[in-house]
Amino acid sequence: MPEKELSDGTPDRCGLVIFGASGDLTRRKLLPALYNLFLDGLLPPAFGIVGFARSAFSREEFRVLARGAVDEFSRRRPADPQRWPEFEQMLHYQQGGYGDAESFRRLREVQTNLDRVHAGAGNWVYYLATPPSAYREIGQGLEQSGLACSRMDAKPWSRLVVEKPIGHDLSSARALNDALSAGCEESQTFRIDHYLGKETVQNILVLRFGNGIFEPLWNHHHIDHVQITVAETDGAGSRGGYYEEAGALRDMVQNHLFQLLCLVAMEPPHNLGADAIRDEKLQALESIRPIRPEELDRQVVRGQYAAGLVDGQPVKAYREEEKVARESVTETFVAMKVYLDNWRWSGVPFYLRTGKRLARRTAEIAIQFRKLPPILFNRNPARPLDPNVLSIRLQPNEGVSLQIGSKRPGPRAEVSTVKLDFGYHSVFPAGTPEAYERLLLDVMLGDATLFMRRDEVEAAWSFVTPILEGWTHSTPDDFPNYVAGSAGPARADELLVVDGRRWGRL
Ligand code: NDP
Ligand code: BG6
Repeated sequence: MPEKELSDGTPDRCGLVIFGASGDLTRRKLLPALYNLFLDGLLPPAFGIVGFARSAFSREEFRVLARGAVDEFSRRRPADPQRWPEFEQMLHYQQGGYGDAESFRRLREVQTNLDRVHAGAGNWVYYLATPPSAYREIGQGLEQSGLACSRMDAKPWSRLVVEKPIGHDLSSARALNDALSAGCEESQTFRIDHYLGKETVQNILVLRFGNGIFEPLWNHHHIDHVQITVAETDGAGSRGGYYEEAGALRDMVQNHLFQLLCLVAMEPPHNLGADAIRDEKLQALESIRPIRPEELDRQVVRGQYAAGLVDGQPVKAYREEEKVARESVTETFVAMKVYLDNWRWSGVPFYLRTGKRLARRTAEIAIQFRKLPPILFNRNPARPLDPNVLSIRLQPNEGVSLQIGSKRPGPRAEVSTVKLDFGYHSVFPAGTPEAYERLLLDVMLGDATLFMRRDEVEAAWSFVTPILEGWTHSTPDDFPNYVAGSAGPARADELLVVDGRRWGRL
């Protein structure tokens, strides 16, 4: 995965259809990413973008929406007045229903026209940026209208991009994957987990396999435990409708946190090809020990935020958010302890936590090494030395640091805990591309390395589904159980305290 660079290879001439183009993802991520690819000269020549959704926009109105999105969310803000008109020419809009054959017929006309005008060569990427409940209809619409999906190596080609979560449990994920594979080959299906597009996430494999010092220590002999934290200060906001159906376990753990776990835990792949990496990630996922029903409450903690203060501002409780049920039992926080039953990780707990409306926005992986024996500098039981911790900061303040002991200057042999720190921004001041820039480019290049394969998605659901089922049998009676702006429910701390450990500070 990390061997490829943004600049290697220009995609074939092609166009992009975005289903759900009136939505949040399109505005926040997709349009700004496309604009930045355009500024970097990475879009193929004569590119065309067709937004498709039920909302009534004229082409002009869609362009205004796009301009607003770029002004607000692009990493190069605001839109450059000199370059914007050229980008704007690429934008088109087709109003239509996802299950409506006539809408797909009109879409086909627009595409045929663009193929002629923009010489797009007939190659198309179809991006499903709607809630998952619309995927099936869109897939059928594409198939019935003959728009999708010619073979990967066919000319012209078409590719399908699907957002997480894929399904809402194992059986629905299988059904959805079956439906997708009826219209598209696996190699043409790009299942997005945008965490894999983040530079700092790609750096995990470089850190592990591009350095000589870590890998010999990367096992149960030297590592005490691993913590993976993805904490957000945002609440459900305008996405209450979606979030009520999802919850933190489906929205974050099944995909983003498990992908991070895979990159930390996997064996070295035999090359950097898409399947070699995904084979190893699958092995890691399959070695996660299932949580038995009687262990559920001891190993998994769920929470929901009450009103509180975030960044000094009062925020409402989850149950008061738009489109959220007043008695909702949807979890906005999950913490869990998992074990991988394999040779490398035997007995090493991986603690995962994620939540909305927490004290701080941070995504970080902390690898805590084993304690020192109680000799030499660590003789005093009243003042034990801190263990070494390798922290991989994924966002914000991206970087890697290593906590070590160092002699405090002076006549006594006293040890202080200090950090060796690498910060991306001080070493690479030019900044890094957004995840969606890299991922959109990779789809156009046909490179699936940073996308989830069907078996990975299903393996993650196999672990998560029994937890979801277990939760349906016991309604949480303590929701809301953490105050917005805090570190989450107290029971999440107990998860580690009983093991004689504690979470890194939020
Ligand atoms: P939105 O709720 O904004 O939905 C996108 C569009 O889909 C809407 O504008 C609407 O368009 C259409 N839509 C909404 N609900 C339905 C429905 N029930 N049936 C059919 N169409 C519907 O979602 P997001 O843009 O936030 O998310 C889209 C996908 O992207 C989701 O799978 C999400 O998990 C994923 N995602 C989102 C991120 C984000 O930051 N927003 C980040 C990472 C992933 P219209 O009514 O005009 O047809
Ligand atoms: C999305 C989730 O996949 O990831 C959101 O649907 C979450 O709920 C988002 O806020 C977090 O992404 P990032 O890149 O901001 O950490």
